Amino acid sequence: MKQAGVGVAITGCGAAAPDAILTNDQLSAIVETSDEWIHSRTGMRERHILAPGQGLSELGTQAAAQALAMADVAPESVDLILLATSTPDDLFGSAGKIQSELGATRAVAFDLTAACSGFVFGMVTAAQFIRTGLYQTVVVIGADALSRWVDWTDRTTCVLFGDGAGAVVMQADEERDRLRGVELCSDGRLNHTLNLGFGGKTTPLTPDFSIDLGGYQPITMNGREIYRFAVAKVPDVISKALFRAELDATAIDWLILHQANQRIIDAVAQRMKMSSDRVISNIHEYGNTSAASIPLALDGAVRSGKIQTGQVVAIAGFGAGLSWGAAIFEWGR
Ligand code: ACO
Repeated sequence: MKQAGVGVAITGCGAAAPDAILTNDQLSAIVETSDEWIHSRTGMRERHILAPGQGLSELGTQAAAQALAMADVAPESVDLILLATSTPDDLFGSAGKIQSELGATRAVAFDLTAACSGFVFGMVTAAQFIRTGLYQTVVVIGADALSRWVDWTDRTTCVLFGDGAGAVVMQADEERDRLRGVELCSDGRLNHTLNLGFGGKTTPLTPDFSIDLGGYQPITMNGREIYRFAVAKVPDVISKALFRAELDATAIDWLILHQANQRIIDAVAQRMKMSSDRVISNIHEYGNTSAASIPLALDGAVRSGKIQTGQVVAIAGFGAGLSWGAAIFEWGR
């Protein structure tokens, strides 16, 4: 299906993770769990965690700078910076800080929130600005630090998440459209199954006037329900993106799913009849880094030489909202 407007190319990627690593064995000293339980249920062995005082925007800046270097684009040439995150350093948004730290002086910058689907939603949003001709060069960053927002006494959630950032450069391409097909979905009826909700404390300002003041509740998740949802919906959304791309699953060289659980990745790949050697996974090293997980995995696969220029990559994110989405693109140009 021909997309209207200017073509889009994904020309660079980058990634960053904090130095500090928390292993499954270390987690066993914090909550009642074990390396065996975590690894067999999720595929995770360790995750990277932000150091006290370290900003998520530092990681986002590093990832974006690497992506710009790979694309051979100067920061001053960037038109738009989109930061997909649910855990900004600043609730007013952290994209502006990244813009300034990168030296992307011409760029407009804003945050976008769609939890673990945020990077896919960010790429699709960026593509609209390019297709209409408004912008030529966009940096999309996925970055999250869920370590800040889990209840570290709740073993059902705290073992799952890690911190990180990944980024891509997306550019106008007059010759060929390399972003072949996309599909985005939401179902707010399931919103209650995964939340990082506002939980302000009711505070009187005067005897007859009260407000709810500051504070978010730690993450709550119905793991089994999200698992079922992901295994059912992700193959479907990839099929729809493939339909728009006028491709079938055999055209996919590499599948990169949101890294939430190795069992979900395996089940989706199996439903799509994709052999495991075409599926990218880094979950053992990073855990679930939410909006960062897809670009972190993409960057690892590009830099290790797995993903080559012109190959077809299918990405799919899913998570809170609930939200899910997929994009099919040819890497590089
Ligand atoms: N260590 C040891 N035991 C544990 C742990 C732990 N860390 N966590 C849970 N258990 C126990 C439970 O208490 C339960 O015990 P019980 O049977 O005595 O009640 C048992 O293990 C099984 O629990 P389940 O929840 O059924 O375990 P499951 O196999 O479903 O795995 C998991 C849980 C890993 C969370 C899985 O359901 C999952 O991955 N769900 C999807 C999560 C996801 O994809 N999130 C994506 C989006 S994240 C975002 O958008 C921010």
